[in-house]
Amino acid sequence: MDVRRLEDLSNTIAALQSGFDLQLSALNAEVARLSTVLSQLTDGVLIADANGQVQYANPAAGKLFEVANPLQHSVAEVIRNHQLIEAWRHSQHSRELQIESVELPAQKKILQLTVIPDAHADGSLLVMQDLTRVRKLETMRRDFISNISHELRTPLASLKALTETLQDGAISDAEVGPRFLNRIVAEVDALTQMAQELLDLSRIESGQVELNLAPLAPQKLISSAADRMKLQAERAGLKLSVKCAERLENIRADKSRLEQVLVNLIHNAVKFTKEGGEISLEAESDVRSVRFAVRDSGIGMPLESLTRIFERFYRVDRSRTGTGTGLGLSISKHIVEMHGGTIWAESEEGRGSAFYFTIPTD
Ligand SMILES: Nc1ncnc2c1ncn2[C@@H]1O[C@H](COP(=O)(O)OP(=O)(O)OP(=O)(O)O)[C@@H](O)[C@H]1O
Ligand SMILES: [Mg+2]
Repeated sequence: MDVRRLEDLSNTIAALQSGFDLQLSALNAEVARLSTVLSQLTDGVLIADANGQVQYANPAAGKLFEVANPLQHSVAEVIRNHQLIEAWRHSQHSRELQIESVELPAQKKILQLTVIPDAHADGSLLVMQDLTRVRKLETMRRDFISNISHELRTPLASLKALTETLQDGAISDAEVGPRFLNRIVAEVDALTQMAQELLDLSRIESGQVELNLAPLAPQKLISSAADRMKLQAERAGLKLSVKCAERLENIRADKSRLEQVLVNLIHNAVKFTKEGGEISLEAESDVRSVRFAVRDSGIGMPLESLTRIFERFYRVDRSRTGTGTGLGLSISKHIVEMHGGTIWAESEEGRGSAFYFTIPTD
């Protein structure tokens, strides 16, 4: 072989080599990218061979199945759920995609498994999704809608009954006519308030409400809420008093929103306290926060209601409350929590209730 042909050959080999290197590094980069995606994925991913041995598992798979190291275990050992194992077996047999979801009451989880047969080898790809949060939101939305429809039906039915009675002649009755019209106005007011509260709640819950936080003296907050509600309390024959500790630290608060919380609580106290009773507003210092209290000497509520009153639409006993949709406390809880505080209640039936909330100091 002459030297030139040897040189040509060596050049060709070198060119092939560098082309190969290029392809290899591109492949390496692809593998690295894929492995980053898989390791960041919140869905669990397992790859099993034809014998059902796990050949690959991403970190989320280990977490979801609560297995420290799924590699070299069988799919059955990792999944440990009869229904899901059946789904995988079925897919192995039929070579078809299988989707199965199960509820695990012990772990309080709802999981969905998708088994995808590998077209080239006889193995399969298993993808596990945690549906717990999604399902919970679905249930909440369903309950919410059925609650709203229920709450709308009552005032609408009475509006219809009132107007029909007026149409049937009551409108020309000097006594009944105006009385029914007043009731119509009251029902429409209640509906308007409910629409406003629902709007507030959805704005707050979807994070559309921004707090205007500024240092605020607790005394100032309490006295402006008391001023707003004094007349209402007096009209109901109740004594409204303010007990505010001296020299309290400023809180970090959105004044108008927090005043809304106090007004909601005082409004409840007025509604659920009989004539001659007392309502007191208090503020005292707590750990890095100020604790506010609204106490009343009213009808109180049973122990089992205390944890539920902050839920939307919850009312202790529908027969004892004429007005109200059961949204006030739910809105108040959101506002307090947005400030970084907590809200809770204590009560004794027939003796009265106390609502407390804390707001961090500035
Ligand atoms: N001070 C209180 N004394 C007795 N029961 C109360 C008191 N505050 C609240 N409750 C009970 O908790 C329920 C929920 O209160 P919440 O303020 O959320 O709703 P509401 O007052 O019925 O309606 P809304 O505030 O939307 O007009 C009330 O319906 C009532 O049964
Ligand atoms: Mg209320």
